[in-house]
Amino acid sequence: MTWDAAMRTALELAANGPATGVNPRVGCVLLDAEGGILAEGWHRGVGTPHAEVDALSKLPEGGARGATAVVTLEPCNHWGHTGPCSEALIAAGVSRVVYGTDDPGHHSGGGAERLREAGVEVVAGVLRDEIDVFLGDWLTAARLGRPYIVVKWASSLDGRAAAADGSSKWITGAAARQRVHEQREASDAIVVGTGTVLADDPSLTARGDAGELMGTQPTPVVIGTRAVPKDAAVFSHPNPVVFEGTHDLHEAVADLHQRGFRRVYVEGGPTLASAFIAAGLVDEYAIYLAPTLLGGPRVAIGDVGVGSIGEQRRLRILDIERLGGDLLVRAVPIPAPALRADRAPAGEHVPVDVGGADIFPAPPIPTGQEG
Ligand SMILES: NC(=O)c1ccc[n+]([C@@H]2O[C@H](COP(=O)([O-])OP(=O)(O)OC[C@H]3O[C@@H](n4cnc5c(N)ncnc54)[C@H](OP(=O)(O)O)[C@@H]3O)[C@@H](O)[C@H]2O)c1
Repeated sequence: MTWDAAMRTALELAANGPATGVNPRVGCVLLDAEGGILAEGWHRGVGTPHAEVDALSKLPEGGARGATAVVTLEPCNHWGHTGPCSEALIAAGVSRVVYGTDDPGHHSGGGAERLREAGVEVVAGVLRDEIDVFLGDWLTAARLGRPYIVVKWASSLDGRAAAADGSSKWITGAAARQRVHEQREASDAIVVGTGTVLADDPSLTARGDAGELMGTQPTPVVIGTRAVPKDAAVFSHPNPVVFEGTHDLHEAVADLHQRGFRRVYVEGGPTLASAFIAAGLVDEYAIYLAPTLLGGPRVAIGDVGVGSIGEQRRLRILDIERLGGDLLVRAVPIPAPALRADRAPAGEHVPVDVGGADIFPAPPIPTGQEG
């Protein structure tokens, strides 16, 4: 018997969960001996039951005895906000657990081993590649112990972020700017340097095309040592501003991870974007290109630590989206840490020949789902 169909249902259930936040999106189906679905569950975010427990809760006492649990992520094995799913499955008398991808978390991993010790049959790796792509940014964050970092900038075709006098509104058109808001909404935090706050006074909210606030608001983060005026627009953001008073970006992103941010969107400007690149802290690039030429000194990216051509930072283009007259180029560093295919843009796509290269994520290594 193959478990692919049930796992696909579990994956669809997982997609009901929130795309941002500390925890991964996980789905679970409980099957009877004939393969019929007894119950379904998914995780709705931190502090709520995990997918396995959500599915078990839909059955009466003893209703899962002898059942097979098909779950997208290895059941967790630790106490977070909720108890270990491994123990819940054992206590419910489940006789087999089929899961997609391993939980690389130092604290949460090990569920499969615990289940086997308790005499539960465990089948691992069903639809693993698909699930690794689905959970790409979460797995990267877990593996690296820092958030998945997208660096975005908008520039003219000749790579300038502003005109010679510093004026930069607006290089790109409405459709491109709307995509930026969508990308903000899909992130836990938006990061800028003090330079951008002082120059532009941005609100750092995610807004719809009528200017209304979107349902999910990323937390604004300002990195730098200069003071920000008390009346800066960022203080009107629905979420409190996080200040990282440092130039040490490794330290800053470790703190953001500690605060529970798993997906971070760095929106510039050139100094901070370049510093992230130089520090090797970019998982994905979102480069908006406007069909205009500005020339002059205001380049979108400055010193990224490339002294000679042998040190160039090569990227692999994932896709190119047309947004009105502009382009969004999504790219990853080589080697690519992860691809978020589940976040594929909704606009018109220009297929990109990546030379037959594998655009799927590097094999996951370690993380931590939290209860
Ligand atoms: N085209 C775009 O996509 C885009 C996006 C955003 C902004 N912009 C434009 O960019 C301009 C502002 O440029 P900017 O480069 O000054 O802004 P920025 O990159 O947002 O801020 C630069 C400041 O960040 C701080 N910083 C934090 N970590 C740092 C590190 N590791 N290395 C160096 N500095 C660090 C420093 O301030 P402290 O001295 O306070 O420590 C530095 O001066 C504005 O005109 C804005 O319109 C363009």
